[in-house]
Amino acid sequence: MRSKKENIVISDAKAGDFPEILDIYTYYVANTTVSLEESPPAFEEMLKRWKDSTDKSLPYLVAKIDGRIVGYAYAFQYRPRTAYRFTIEESVYVSKDHQGLGVGHSLLFDLIKQCKEKNYKQMLAVIAGADNLASIAFHKNLGFKQSGVLEKFGFKFNKWVDTVLMQKEL
Ligand SMILES: CC(C)(COP(=O)(O)OP(=O)(O)OC[C@H]1O[C@@H](n2cnc3c(N)ncnc32)[C@H](O)[C@@H]1OP(=O)(O)O)[C@@H](O)C(=O)NCCC(=O)NCCS
Repeated sequence: MRSKKENIVISDAKAGDFPEILDIYTYYVANTTVSLEESPPAFEEMLKRWKDSTDKSLPYLVAKIDGRIVGYAYAFQYRPRTAYRFTIEESVYVSKDHQGLGVGHSLLFDLIKQCKEKNYKQMLAVIAGADNLASIAFHKNLGFKQSGVLEKFGFKFNKWVDTVLMQKEL
């Protein structure tokens, strides 16, 4: 259902948004393998990641419905080696209670647009879990193609987790 899509507002994240952003992310860290972190990061660490991106003029976006943060997405440096300077990685998380409403699409669509405007040429998504079919379909829907699977690359909740690499030419 897309009934709420018209109510989704995308904007740059601000420091005051991070309690809600951390809440969204903590659920996935604590309960799923879609993130391969094993303990929720501290608030200060979330702020550091935000600063790492924004200090490089990379977008860190939030989505709001009725003033409440329901998802976030950000771009971050793939690798510091200079020949990767046109390559960017992204991450997107939507609150577990607001999936399927177009929030992720709105976030990643804007993130792609902003990275393209900054002259990045390739965007990478690293998806934990070859069984994360929602995320794979979500990225395909925005023009990403699957470039490879790294088998048994993470180990969480006592099991090996594959990671799926997907890329989009910007
Ligand atoms: C994956 C995720 C970001 C998608 O965001 P979302 O707001 O739920 O997805 P949207 O409503 O914007 O869906 C956009 C498109 O993605 C695809 N899609 C989304 N969820 C899907 C699902 N469960 N199954 C199949 N396709 C799906 C569809 O093509 C959909 O388009 P449609 O509604 O016209 O069919 C979100 O579900 C999420 O945060 N999941 C957990 C965290 C995660 O895996 N993040 C990715 C880390 S790389």
